[in-house]
Amino acid sequence: MAILSGKTVLLIIGGGIAAYKSLELIRLLKKRGVRVRCIMTRASEEFVTPLSVASLTGEKVHGELFNLTDEVEMGHIEFSRAADLLVVAPATADLMAKMAHGNANDLASTTLLATDKRVLIAPAMNVRMWTHAATIRNLAQLKADGVLVVGPNDGEMACGEYGPGRMAEPAEIITAIEADLQTSPRLLAGKKVLITAGPTHEAIDPVRYIANYSSGKQGYALAEAAVALGAETILVSGPVALPIPPGVQMIPVTSAVEMLEACQREIPCDIAIFAAAVADWRMGAPARQKIKKDAQALPSLQLVENPDILMTVAKAEAKRPKIVIGFAAETENLLANARAKLKKKGCDLMVANDVSAGRGVFGGDRNTVHLVTEAGTESWEHLTKLDVAKRLMDRFTSMLKDKT
Ligand code: CTP
Repeated sequence: MAILSGKTVLLIIGGGIAAYKSLELIRLLKKRGVRVRCIMTRASEEFVTPLSVASLTGEKVHGELFNLTDEVEMGHIEFSRAADLLVVAPATADLMAKMAHGNANDLASTTLLATDKRVLIAPAMNVRMWTHAATIRNLAQLKADGVLVVGPNDGEMACGEYGPGRMAEPAEIITAIEADLQTSPRLLAGKKVLITAGPTHEAIDPVRYIANYSSGKQGYALAEAAVALGAETILVSGPVALPIPPGVQMIPVTSAVEMLEACQREIPCDIAIFAAAVADWRMGAPARQKIKKDAQALPSLQLVENPDILMTVAKAEAKRPKIVIGFAAETENLLANARAKLKKKGCDLMVANDVSAGRGVFGGDRNTVHLVTEAGTESWEHLTKLDVAKRLMDRFTSMLKDKT
């Protein structure tokens, strides 16, 4: 019960028969000390009345996008700002489609597009709609965008058919809300965390580049964990195919030089984490035109060394972040190399991981890491990258506390 007490949930009720269950959801949330504010779509008002919703929430119910008084008082963007979580229940096929495509033509869809908070949806629809290729596509897109999903369940449906599509029960939705809001206390509120992630691309000519296999997953997971702790989180990311975690300020970059410049603009800060796999070399002078094949000779690539971003920031004297963390990607002599990098680069802790082919670290969802400091080495078990990130952020938080 304590997990939810004092939290604010913005509940968006979609137009489906399952809307009646949202009334029970509101009752359970209120019982747990949650402030519930509601947006009802026009269609949902055919199933439950705004009066019932207002009576249960004890708050005004919102429905019209162009309600001038509301726009002056708070506006649709302001509306989601005060919430800890947005819950869409029932999430109809139409609402899911709007969310997946970024449509914004009523208060519900506009709020969902304008929010930077996490969103949990409880889908509910006819089984054929749920299994339609369009809904499957939309669901996959929403998940990729970081939207949380609870249900639907199998069972008899109001339309007489049987199968998946019944909205999750209110108690199940509560469990999903608790799981999300049960994040660690906001120990990094008011602190700034800078994270680099992904590979860098170094141009050879207008169509080719030097890069590596980094997926960016570990860095993005760290950013997600930093946001959960309440930090102002800046993610300087090389080119990756990952959704931006909600609440993160993303600075996209391509090359190592751009990544360094972005980091230099963001320091000083409290914690800086260098999870990017920066290309070590770039072309001294990338060719202006596409390099053509020559029957006589192979092209010779004149490489120069890239700046060491971590080392530059760690040795930035007055602007040095309070805590500087490096990652050592090694294929041999893991711990010895990590120790040497810790010293050479001047960071406070080096996270060492074995990126040999076959280990599945580059691009994979799990990681085995070793924490190397001047005091010694600590090895962790094989964990998901998100679990690694959460545990690492807890560790960095206590390092920061010790230092300040
Ligand atoms: N790093 C960096 N800038 C670079 C190279 C590396 O900021 N130009 C950072 C990485 O983000 C990582 C740490 O330094 O936190 C170690 O990176 P790694 O690739 O393991 O080592 P390198 O310094 O590149 O050394 P080597 O390639 O010889 O192993």
